[in-house]
Order: sequence, then C-alpha cells, then structure tokens
Amino acid sequence: MPFGSRVLTVIGRQRWLDRPSYRLEHVLSFGFNALGGARDRVANALNGVWLGHPVHPPLASFASGALGTTVALDVMSMLPGTSSGEVGETSRIASRALGVGILASIGAAITGATDWQHTHQEDRRVGLVHGVVNSAATVLYALSWWDRRRGRRLRGPALSALGYGITVGGSYLGGALVFESGIGIDQSGERLRTQEWTPVLPATSLQDGRPQRVEVDGVGLVVCQTNPGEVAAFGEFCPHLAAPMADGWVDRGRVVCPWHGSRFALDSGEVLRGPSATPLPCYQARLVDGMIEVAGNGVTK
Ligand code: FES
Repeated sequence: MPFGSRVLTVIGRQRWLDRPSYRLEHVLSFGFNALGGARDRVANALNGVWLGHPVHPPLASFASGALGTTVALDVMSMLPGTSSGEVGETSRIASRALGVGILASIGAAITGATDWQHTHQEDRRVGLVHGVVNSAATVLYALSWWDRRRGRRLRGPALSALGYGITVGGSYLGGALVFESGIGIDQSGERLRTQEWTPVLPATSLQDGRPQRVEVDGVGLVVCQTNPGEVAAFGEFCPHLAAPMADGWVDRGRVVCPWHGSRFALDSGEVLRGPSATPLPCYQARLVDGMIEVAGNGVTK
C-alpha cells in the first residue's frame, strides 16, 4: 500500500478522535444557532451556495499560493550576491504575502470547519487531523509575521518555512478527502439524458405524499407529488454526500435531504439551504391518464 494511503488508513482508525470531533461539532452548532435568523444566510455563504461550489478549496489554494510566495521570496532574499536594498524590498513583499496568506488561511479554516461538521467516521477523523495540522501551521505563520515586524530576519522566515512544510502535509489530507472520499464534489450521480417521455408509476402510488424511487434507462430518479394533480422528478442522490433523496420529504415546494437537511427548490433544484453547494438535478414530470411520465430536460410538456 502506498505511504499516503497507509497514513490515511491509520488516521481513519483512530476512534478516540470521535469524542473531540463531536465536542467541536457541538460548539460549531451552538455558534451557528446563536446567529438566529441569520444562521442559514451565514452557513450558505460559508458552504458556497452562492458559488455553486464549496468555498474552502479555492480559498485554501489561494492561501497556499500566498504562503508559497512568501517562502520563495525569503529564499531569494538569502541568495548570495543579493544587495541589501534588494533584500529589504524582497522581505517587505514577503511579509505582505505572508499577511495575505494568514488572512486566507483563517478564511479557509472557517469554511473548512463548516464543511467538515457534516462528515462521518473515517472522513471526519481525517478532516479533524487536517484542520489541526493546518491550524498549527497558521499559528507558525502568525509568529513569523510578528518576528518579521520585530526585525528577526532569520527566525521569521524559518518559522514560515516550517509552517509551509506542515501546510503541504495538511493539504495532502485535504486532497484525500476530496479525491478519495468525494467530500466537496457533486455526488448526485448519473443524469437522465433521454428526450422521450417515459411512464414510470401510476399516480395513485404517490398518494401517501412520500417521494418514490423509479428507474429510467438505468438511471435512478425520485418522483413526488407537489400539489394535487402536479408531480416533480429529481435526482436519486443528494449532491452533498449522496443521501438517498427517496428518504427525504417535501416541505412547501422544497425537497429536504434526509441526512443534513439541505433544501432544494422542487421546480429547479436550486439550493435554498446548504450544506449542499450544488443544485439537485431536476427533470420534467407530468401526469397523463393517471400515469406519471418523466423526461430529461429540454423536452416540452
Ligand atoms: S447528504 Fe448532506 S445534505 Fe444531503
């Protein structure tokens, strides 16, 4: 097994991390609930609903770029033959890049924690270690920034170089959460492409109001009744972490995810409340002679 996978496996097995994880989650929930009526707006902003994509990855990349620039400029200022004027100018720009990197790291930590609170088991443990490692690096960056202001020309760059090494390790864990576990990517699955209306279910099957799973061309969908005589069809899996939407429910024109409560508009799939940042795929649905028919988008009713 490759070294990186072994590290992930070992971290994923550390069940003792669950207790501090749940404590931290409770603190986060308490903080969000304390926002009262602004709770959903703030959480949606941090989850990236406005962007259609989680905010954490681009913010973390931006932070890493600024901090990498700091380290590169520090190295350049130490090259033999660099004049004292060039050293002063390069160090000044390095300090500014470090300041930008620290601010972006704080933003990445806040958005990352918001996303992390909905993860489970191994992913939650890896996410916790990822957060702790990157927070430790941010503390080193802050100390480095302070040392630079105090004129400590060796200790400041040394601390940011050490922090950057830690950031690279922490980023590996973050990348594993995205590429191996699919955290932050659209998990809604395969789309219905057919342009033909297909009968899927008698309308009487929906009379208890519960969404029902059906299959068309091997693609799973969910159909539900929205109003008397009206039906809707949407993707089988929640884009956030692939919850089965057939276990969800309809509430005032919105379909609610059964796992973390994301709410999607029934007519468009637009995210009305996160943590999903990606819309739910929606399809055409109609009633014909007591049968529910569905089709891919682009077909007129
Ligand atoms: S799986 Fe998390 S909101 Fe749906």
